[in-house]
Amino acid sequence: MKAAIYTEYGAPSVLRQAEIPRPSPKDNEILVKVSASTVSAGVIWVRQGRFPGSNIFTFFLRLMYGLNKPRKPVLGFEFSGVVEAVGGKVQRFRVGDEVFGTTTGLTQGAYAEYVCVPEQWKQGVVAKKPPEITLEEAAALPVGFMTALNLLNRATITPSSNVLIYGASGSVGTFAVQIAKYRGAKITAVCSGRNAALVQSLGAETVVDYTGEGFTTRDMARLAAQFDVAFDAVGKLSSQKLKGLVKQGGKALSVTSPTSEQQEYLGELARMIAEGSIRPVIDKTYSLENIVEAHEYVDLGHKRGNVVITVAKPHQS
Ligand SMILES: NC(=O)c1ccc[n+]([C@@H]2O[C@H](COP(=O)([O-])OP(=O)(O)OC[C@H]3O[C@@H](n4cnc5c(N)ncnc54)[C@H](OP(=O)(O)O)[C@@H]3O)[C@@H](O)[C@H]2O)c1
Repeated sequence: MKAAIYTEYGAPSVLRQAEIPRPSPKDNEILVKVSASTVSAGVIWVRQGRFPGSNIFTFFLRLMYGLNKPRKPVLGFEFSGVVEAVGGKVQRFRVGDEVFGTTTGLTQGAYAEYVCVPEQWKQGVVAKKPPEITLEEAAALPVGFMTALNLLNRATITPSSNVLIYGASGSVGTFAVQIAKYRGAKITAVCSGRNAALVQSLGAETVVDYTGEGFTTRDMARLAAQFDVAFDAVGKLSSQKLKGLVKQGGKALSVTSPTSEQQEYLGELARMIAEGSIRPVIDKTYSLENIVEAHEYVDLGHKRGNVVITVAKPHQS
């Protein structure tokens, strides 16, 4: 089968097209013909083999993914696709089901024509695709949505809450704005001016531009101790600054905290999608053949929402 692989850490050019053996599902697994994957922030760190600004996180990343070179040659932490075959013990899925999920902790990612995923396992998730969204949209949902939900669930958000989302235009940020809006909060979003209209369309009432004079000086003083919840969705604020934004008794949250993926989150996601309360923001779409270009774009650090990789043509039902 065709795949994009990498055998050394580094710049986007370490990714190349290759033919690799097609996997066969074990008893507890489904074989998915992959429609789409993404270039998430996490994929970028793993391709580079380093976590920006942290030797400790880089050490743990290398322990997980290979000390000197990548142990798993196929990246792609999110997928959508169509079930091609099911293992003997699989109960939730049938051949032909449209599914989406993550490859967290598995030996192979989704930058390939096929991927095998267990029906249920500790680190990752898989579910049937909600009918209201396309396969391309479904691939852009799981990691950003679950990260935002996991962290926002650590705070109490009600219609009287004042919530600040810092870095509101990224993948985690765009989902965080929509989840906080769904819970009725009054949202202040921090992003660059070019993304102001986008985050307002997702539910932010007030937008603060972090570029130009800078969020860290004038705005920091003006917004100090104003929020019930302050969420740094890009991990760019120091914990001191983040804490400075919350009222006494408020909650400071950051993507730098570890989170977990939980199957039940996809149930909440399906409900929100059915109600029209959440949508993935897709910045650009590239084909698997153009994976290097896609990584070069995301490496710049300014993607809006998500960047999707199409692997196979959407399933015709
Ligand atoms: N804890 C976890 O389990 C977990 C899970 C997933 C991701 N993460 C982490 O979460 C972070 C965000 O991931 P992501 O995929 O959402 O990122 P992303 O989409 O790549 O973030 C890009 C966005 O961040 C904005 N941005 C860049 N620098 C900024 C700054 N200094 N201030 C405000 N906004 C800024 C950019 O807007 P402009 O173009 O306007 O600058 C762009 O829209 C990453 O560090 C990732 O590793 C953690």
